[in-house]
Order: sequence, then structure tokens, then C-alpha cells
Amino acid sequence: MCGIIAIAAKNDCINDIISGLYSLEYRGYDSSGLATIKNNHFEYNKNVGKIFNLEKSVKKNKLTGNVAIAHTRWATHGKPSIKNCHPFIKDNCVLVHNGIIENYTDLLSQYSINKKNIKSDTDSEIIAEIYNKLLNKFNNPVEAIKNLNKKIIGSFSFAFLVHGSNSIFVTKRGSPLVLGIGKHFNAVSSDVLGLPDSTREIIFLEENDIAELNESSISIFDKNTRKIKREKHKFVQKQDFKIKGNYKHFMEKEIFHQPISIEDTILNFADKKRKIVYLPKSNIKFNKFSNIILVACGTAYHSCMVAKYWLEAMTNINVSIDIASEFRYRKNKFSLNSVGIVVSQSGETMDTLKCLDKFKKNNIPTVSIVNVLNSSIARLSDFILPTLAGSEIGVASTKAFTSQLSVLALFALHIQQQEKSINKLYFNSIFEIHKSVNEILNKENEFKKIAQTLVDTKSIFYIGRGVMYPMALEGALKLKEITYKHCEGFAAGELKHGPLALIEKNIPVIVLAPYDENYFKLISNIQEVKARGGRIIMITDKMGAKIAKKYSDKLIIVPKTNFLTSPIIYSLPIQLIAYYLAVFLGTDVDQPRNLAKSVTVE
Ligand code: M6R
Repeated sequence: MCGIIAIAAKNDCINDIISGLYSLEYRGYDSSGLATIKNNHFEYNKNVGKIFNLEKSVKKNKLTGNVAIAHTRWATHGKPSIKNCHPFIKDNCVLVHNGIIENYTDLLSQYSINKKNIKSDTDSEIIAEIYNKLLNKFNNPVEAIKNLNKKIIGSFSFAFLVHGSNSIFVTKRGSPLVLGIGKHFNAVSSDVLGLPDSTREIIFLEENDIAELNESSISIFDKNTRKIKREKHKFVQKQDFKIKGNYKHFMEKEIFHQPISIEDTILNFADKKRKIVYLPKSNIKFNKFSNIILVACGTAYHSCMVAKYWLEAMTNINVSIDIASEFRYRKNKFSLNSVGIVVSQSGETMDTLKCLDKFKKNNIPTVSIVNVLNSSIARLSDFILPTLAGSEIGVASTKAFTSQLSVLALFALHIQQQEKSINKLYFNSIFEIHKSVNEILNKENEFKKIAQTLVDTKSIFYIGRGVMYPMALEGALKLKEITYKHCEGFAAGELKHGPLALIEKNIPVIVLAPYDENYFKLISNIQEVKARGGRIIMITDKMGAKIAKKYSDKLIIVPKTNFLTSPIIYSLPIQLIAYYLAVFLGTDVDQPRNLAKSVTVE
């Protein structure tokens, strides 16, 4: 987690640094800081809270500089405070760090570091202290980094300023770093989003690379400090996804962008006229695999859960799913003829990335479904299926989720096509999804009213069956993430095996109930809840509503769906309820407490 931006420029670069930090705020936002070097003297500012606080103090202190490194933090070791905030300043160097140093206590003794010199609770300050020692020993910043990297266990990207030099020195292992080349500057950031708008070209650093950048040149070295070249790519300008426009929050904008993002994703892979699904060209014949293993975290994992239902019903392939943080450590055996699919919005989630490694080590072909095309996961996988949601800024995933579902639905249809058994009804229906999504968005006031009734409740439950079970989990995750209210999702059939004990008078239970083959079973589950005083909020279609009226306290009618389209379309109600409830409660919708957009730690 955490974000790094550093710039060496001909002119003052502090505005670009602050703007880069804002762009990286999705990686963490509990404190931030920056440091410059001027006439061989380090100047710095650190602040607890959002980047806005740092910007204010930088302006107040009139901090300027042509060479600067900066950091936005998501606390792992030590709570958010000035003493734990980066950069860390030592006699000869300044450091910002993203990642986790696993052996930092061992390093203390290996390098005979005096504990009194370590003022913070972080794993990072020790690195600054050691680097300071190594600079004294080698008198060469690149050699010092080479020696430092040899001793570290863990993941890191570091940026250093060093006394006596106007360069920025960086290195990485297991955490991303991208170099940006401009006309009068060179920069480095944890993500292309952090780079200045006027960047012309970018270079992705590879594992253990070391780089030195100043205003006019960049040198890259391998782990043995041999000079190397890395491929340059064109820098694509950021789009207006980063501007809220008339919306109150990015999350609101991203929810309302879904008719477009879903349609873009579907039209990218399917041709309505020619009636075909066409995935990007590859030699992989997916229908020849016997097993598909899907792994991901959080919301992306819920999309895998939905895909399991789809793929099992629509193809002849066995499907297993796993949470990435569990899968990577499991001592599971791989059956021959398996394909591993990882799903990730950011493409940087550490646990998911490690699962990709695990697949590779076991010679399992890999597919990634990612929203960020130049992310680590995208670059490491054998085959990429992009979700074309555009940058997602709100920490709570919305449009990226529906694009993941759209790609997975197309993937299932693609296998059916290879098996020569494509379901025409499903195929035709995917081109209509965006219209249904629009219809739901037009009912925003109904969702506001529902949200209003939830303001004073202590707990909320979601239930569903079949593909609506993962959607119930997703509804609960979305709600707790941004409203901080206790909310749980259940498979409706499981209620009587325990959760029913939680139902008391007026507890709201939101039921996801498309009129499908599970509908009547769900009605029985609703009656179990009703009999115990629960308050039923039913989301269903016209057919479902006819029957459900008498069992529901509140009913919202959404368009008719089928097995393939229902998870995508029912995403909208759960997002809108969570969003409006969070707005009523006044939480920080786009940057909820304790979370970050990209989880690059284990
Ligand atoms: O970037 P990823 O899709 O790999 O992220 C996975 C989860 O961290 C993410 O989906 C998280 O659960 C969201 N904040 C949920 O809204």
C-alpha cells in the first residue's frame, strides 16, 4: 500500500508533486509528506490526514524545490502520526517506502543499528538508517542500494534523496514503480496516475532494478549494478475519470457511468450483428481445459463466485474459486489441464499477484481480468481480458465490478461458442443490459427512500439464492465498507442453520429476488424472516412483485433479467442503497476509514 511520487525537474515541481499525491490517494490517505533537496540541504513537510492538509502546510511554509520525493501512507506498522509519516530523514539521505519489510527487526542487529536512532514504529525508518550507513561505507548511492537490497526480505519500492546529489535514486521488489519522462523533468511514481500530465514516455521498472534520475537523464541498473535498458512506452493522458464534475462523489459518478462502462466492455468482446463473442486473439482453447480456478479478493472475489455459477451451468468445465489470501498458502494439488484466472480491478493486489506466481510455478496457464492494463498482474499473466470500466477512484468498487461480471459472462459465452452450444437468449440479452441499468438509475429516489429507512438500524442483512447469493455478499460488503454499519449477506437457505437467531423485530432484510427458478424457495425463506419480525425490503421484477407484495414491507421493481444478466443488473440496487445510506450518515464515501483502493500488502 502507500503511494510514492518523486520528480527531478528544471523548474519548481512542488505543484506536480502535490497533484501526483492526490492521484495516488487511492493507495492510502492517512498521512503524507514530501522532502526536497536544495543547496545540499533537506527540507520537508509532513502531515496527518488527507493530502489537502499537506498541501495547506506546503503553501503556508512556501516550500519550493526542483527535486522532491513524496509519499501518501496507509498505515501498516505504527498508527497514522507525524512520527510514522514518510519521508524519513537521516544525515545523508531521505527515504520514502511502499511495501513491507518482513525482516526489519533482524536488520537492526545485522547492521548494529542503535535503537535510539529509530524514532518511529515503522519498518521503513530502519531502512533509512541502514542506507545512511551504507552511503558512508560505499560513497556511491547505487552501490549502497545494491547492498541494501541483498539483505531485505519483503516487498518494497524505495525513493531516496542523497546528500551531494541532485538525483533521485529508486529501486523496487514486489511493489510497482514506473518512471515518467517529460521535456524538462523525469519522475517516478507507484502508478502512471501519479505522473505529471506532461509526461511523454514511461518505463516500467522490473524486479530489483535500481534507477537514478535527474532533470535530464535516467540511468537504470540491474541488481548487480550493470547498466541496462528497459523498454519505453507512450504515456496516455489521464481521462476525465479523475474529475467529479456535477457529482457529489466519485462513487456516485462511477455508479452512474455504468450504462456506458458495461456497454463498452460488452461491445469490446461481442458482435451483435455477426452474433459472435470474440476475445482477444490467443492460442488458448478454453473449452479444452478440464478445470478453471478463479482467485481474487473482496469484490473481485464476488465476481468469481458469480462466474462459478455461470461456468458450471453453461459449460462442461469444472470450476473452483478461492480467496487469493488463502489460495496462495494452500498446499493444494493442481490437476493437469487447468487454467488459472485472476480477477483484479487494480491489477496490483498483492495476494492476487502471488496467486499468479503460484500458477506460474506450477505451469498453469494464466488469464487476468484487470481494469488497469499496465498493472503488475496484467503484465505477468499469459493472457489479458481487460475490463473497460475506466479509472475507478472511489474505494468502493462499482463500475469495475459490473465490468468484471460482463467480461466473465462473455467468457462463459465464448466457451459455449467454442463448444458450439451458445445460448442465444443469453447472448442477445447481454446487449440490453445497459438499458436495464439506466432504468434502475432513473429510480434513484426510490433507493434514497429505502436508504433513509436504514439510517437508525444497527444491523442490516442481505439474502439471495443461486447467483444472488454472491450478490448478497457483495451488497453487504458495499454497505459496511462505506456506511460502517454492520451488514451481512447470506445464502437464503442457510438462514435456518444459524443466522435466523439474529432476526428480531424490525431488522431490515434486503432480498434479491429475480423471478427465476429459485424464486419460490426464496419466498419460503422470506416467510421465516417475517415470522420473526424482520422487515423485508424486496428487490424483484414485475412477475416477482405480484407474488411478493403480501410478504414485503417495501418493494422495488427492477427490469426482468435472466440467469446471466441478473447479477450485473442487481448490482445497481445494492450500490445505490449503500451510497445513499452513506450520504445520509455523512461518512467519507470515496475514501472510507481504514481502507485503500489498492491493497499491495498481504
Ligand atoms: O484491485 P482489486 O480488484 O484486486 O481489489 C480487490 C479488493 O481489495 C477490492 O475489491 C475491495 O474489496 C473493494 N474495496 C470493494 O469495494
